[in-house]
Amino acid sequence: MKLGVIPGDGIGIDVTAEALRVLDAVLPGVEKIDYDLGAARYLRTGEILPDSVLHEVRGHDAILLGAIGDPSVPPGVLERDLLLRLRFELDHYVNLRPAKLYPGVATPLGGAPEIDFVVYREGTEGPYTGNGGVLRRATPNEVATEVSVNTAFGVERVVRAAFRKAQSREKKRLTLVHKTNVLKFAGGLWQRTVDAVGAEFPEVTVDYNHVDAVMIHLVTHPERYDVIVTDNLFGDIVTDLAAAVCGGIGLAASANLNPDRQSPSMFEPVHGSAPDIAGQDKADPTAAVLSVALMLDHLGEAEAAAKIESVVRDDLAKRDPENPGGTREIGERLAAAAAA
Ligand code: IPM
Ligand code: MN
Repeated sequence: MKLGVIPGDGIGIDVTAEALRVLDAVLPGVEKIDYDLGAARYLRTGEILPDSVLHEVRGHDAILLGAIGDPSVPPGVLERDLLLRLRFELDHYVNLRPAKLYPGVATPLGGAPEIDFVVYREGTEGPYTGNGGVLRRATPNEVATEVSVNTAFGVERVVRAAFRKAQSREKKRLTLVHKTNVLKFAGGLWQRTVDAVGAEFPEVTVDYNHVDAVMIHLVTHPERYDVIVTDNLFGDIVTDLAAAVCGGIGLAASANLNPDRQSPSMFEPVHGSAPDIAGQDKADPTAAVLSVALMLDHLGEAEAAAKIESVVRDDLAKRDPENPGGTREIGERLAAAAAA
């Protein structure tokens, strides 16, 4: 197995080291190729993602990414030309983000609600494509557009992947999240696609929620969700709230999948580079570690993936919330348990 590793910026570097420590503990011998991409390289050379690097990365089995973004680079530059470019070029059309409240983890909702759902966020379309423009910039008559792109092809493939997932789960429930009462063209395509694909999955119960209502239900009745399918931007927003109700962004893992395996999938914690705490042994590496579990699962190493998840589950149940340990200590603890 050949793994491309992009630690990136800030705490991305801190948590990736620990994620690899845990990977080595459950599955020794994975070949890792490190890529110096992110703010440091950009500031040094002006390069963000050279074509030669992209070409090389395409040949790997998977990519592990830490986090991208740095205050010394104008906002959006690295996010768009590195992170989003990788997602687009490698056709990561499923951005899979599990939301699970593990036993013992404190939630701002209070108590111990049952939360266990997964978001299928479309990863290559929506308002993320850069399809827009500006007229009369910086004048009182400025007009800015950012057009959401939704193709029948793109919507169908993520919806189908989400239905397959729902079919494999106990509750077999799929919720389309959109804003069809306002966004009638894109919303219409999503709703019709869910109706059509849903006919092939009679065992799956299908539901629809407006995205604003999801912000309420996720807080009041999170147990109602099983599989959520939604577009790129709604998925971005929904999964941050999902992370918050499941104990925080330090625990939220994600997978950018090309389910057809035409290109390597990419695995990353949902959190960003948090420059304010970078290099201080403060970041929780758990999200990065759980992202490794998603990677192993995707690569057919189900046993190793399950091992990581169970080690994380046990660790979270025993963690002292006041004193969870530093980045390295948590990584070492998880690796030791995973090797046992
Ligand atoms: C995420 C991030 C990215 C996104 C940003 C950094 C471009 O917020 O992975 O959720 O919007 O997809
Ligand atoms: Mn986000």
